[in-house]
Amino acid sequence: MELHKFRDAEALSEAVAKWIADVIAATLKRQPRFTIALSGGSTPERLHKILAAAPYKEQIDWSKLHIFWGDERAVPFQDSRNNAKMAFETLLNHVPVPAAHIHVMRTDISPEQSATEYEKILHQYFGEKGPSFDLVLLGMGDDGHTLSLFPGTAVVHEEKVWVTSFFLKAQDMHRITLTRPIVNRAARIAFLTTGPKKAHALKEVLKGEYHPDLYPSQTIMPQAGELHWFVDDAAAAELS
Ligand code: 6PG
Repeated sequence: MELHKFRDAEALSEAVAKWIADVIAATLKRQPRFTIALSGGSTPERLHKILAAAPYKEQIDWSKLHIFWGDERAVPFQDSRNNAKMAFETLLNHVPVPAAHIHVMRTDISPEQSATEYEKILHQYFGEKGPSFDLVLLGMGDDGHTLSLFPGTAVVHEEKVWVTSFFLKAQDMHRITLTRPIVNRAARIAFLTTGPKKAHALKEVLKGEYHPDLYPSQTIMPQAGELHWFVDDAAAAELS
C-alpha cells in the first residue's frame, strides 16, 4: 500500500489528476484501451473538473478510455444524488470519450435487472481471468464504507457475483454496486479521502484490526495490483 499525503483537498485533487494522466499515458503505451471505474460521492468532483480542463483535457487520449462506475444510487439520472449524473456534469460532458465507451449503472430499470445487466457487460468486457480495471477510484465514507459496501451489510461478504443490488435501509434507497471479487482484480485501486470527519475511520481501516463488518474499506486489497490511498492532512490526523 502507498499512502500519499497532501495539505488539503485541492492539492490532493491536483496531484491525483496528474497521477491519473501519467498512469493513462504509460498504460496506453502497452495496450489499446484504458478502463476506469469512477466513484460517487462528492470528493471526486474537484478531480473531475481538473481533468476536464487544460492541460489534461488535451493531454489525455480520451478516445481510448472506457468508463464504468463503482456504485450507483438507484435514483433517476436527473436526481442530484445520481453518481453518473455527477460524473457527466463534472467530466464526461466536457471530454471526448465515445458514448459507446461509457457504461452507466442503469436506474431506469429495477436495481436487480440493472445489476444483472452490468454483471453481463463486465464478464464480456474482462473475461474470467486476469486483471480487471486499469484503475478503480474509490471514496471512503465517515463510517468506513466504500462503494456501496456499508458496515453490517451482507454485500461486504459477497464472494461470487461482481455486481449486486440491495435496499439500504439507512438511506431508504436501493444501491447497485461492484463487489470485492471484481474490484480486487484491478491493476490499480486509489482511495481519495479528505476532511476531518474521515480521520477516525481512516485510522481504523489502515491501522486497526481487521473488522470488515465495521470497516468495509478494509476488504479492498488488490490481489496483484497496486493500492494507493490519497489523503489530506485532516483525514490523516489520527495516523501516527
Ligand atoms: C456513493 C459512493 C460512496 C462514496 C463515499 C465517500 O455512491 O455514496 O460511491 O462509496 O465514495 O461515501 O463519499 P464522499 O466523497 O462524498 O465523502
